[in-house]
Amino acid sequence: MDKYKVIITGRIMPPALAALQEQCEVQQWNQAVAPQVSQLAEWLKDAEGLFVSTNIAVNEELLAAAPKLRVIAQSAVGYDNIDIQACTNRKIPFGNTPGVLVETTADLAFGLLLTAARRIHEGWDWVRAGKWQPGFQLPLGVDLFGKTLGVVGMGAIGAAVARRAQASGMKVIYNNRRPRPDQAALNAEYCSFENLLTESDFIVVLTPLTPESRGMFGAKEFARMKTTAYFINAARGAVVDTQALYTALIEGQIAYAALDVTDPEPLPADHPLIKLPNILIAPHIGSATTETRNRMALLAAENLLLGLAGKPLITCVNPEVNYR
Ligand code: DGY
Repeated sequence: MDKYKVIITGRIMPPALAALQEQCEVQQWNQAVAPQVSQLAEWLKDAEGLFVSTNIAVNEELLAAAPKLRVIAQSAVGYDNIDIQACTNRKIPFGNTPGVLVETTADLAFGLLLTAARRIHEGWDWVRAGKWQPGFQLPLGVDLFGKTLGVVGMGAIGAAVARRAQASGMKVIYNNRRPRPDQAALNAEYCSFENLLTESDFIVVLTPLTPESRGMFGAKEFARMKTTAYFINAARGAVVDTQALYTALIEGQIAYAALDVTDPEPLPADHPLIKLPNILIAPHIGSATTETRNRMALLAAENLLLGLAGKPLITCVNPEVNYR
């Protein structure tokens, strides 16, 4: 039997690669820098499946170069880099990886909050710099218990962050487009976006990047927050206006930011944000554990193989063109 021709846009976890290689002729981009569109377009000329493992734009231009493409799978839950309508127009099902990264990403988001609040990384910097001596001036943190956490984007990851915050004695409020039907079980209170901004001691952003959420945290929003507020972004960098965040941090409109995602991403080494004393930045590692990256890659591989076999994807973002 002929093998399916599949393109992989970057490195993936070995078990998923092995599963794909069993049934597919795989062409994989192996360099550290992302492939050029022209290179991918050339590879996609006769490809039936596309496995997206890097942040490349899958748009009409790329799809037009891939006339035989029957399925796209991405090893990520977010899909702001994919033009879903363009996929649907071409009857190409697209699969992402929800569910399998919930607890891991919640750990990271809450870990950023806790690390920032207790100034753990500044403490470690002091120790490493040999400043830990009797009578030294400790960088003081703030308590979590008794404080209010505002979650913007209360999906599965938000609910998992809320559980962690509640275990630390925090009150949880949240904003979504509409209240969750299970909010009593969540033990979290729905509130307007404006009220969340003014009432929260800590704000965790988990909302997907859409045309509506792009730039939703700008100068006006930071000005509404408490001057003691901690702002944590574990969603997508472009949900925040980076210049407005920088201004809010240098002018003391908020106390501190902890980011897993930035705009631009990666953040250039000489970016002004990096020089601020009241910020902590992780290099987009929300789902970056061995176990979770394996689960994500295997789910994406399964989606791809199902699509190639003309069977329904397990997690399909455009179900109207999913196979039946
Ligand atoms: C996701 O799965 O969307 C994570 O942010 C990794 O990109």
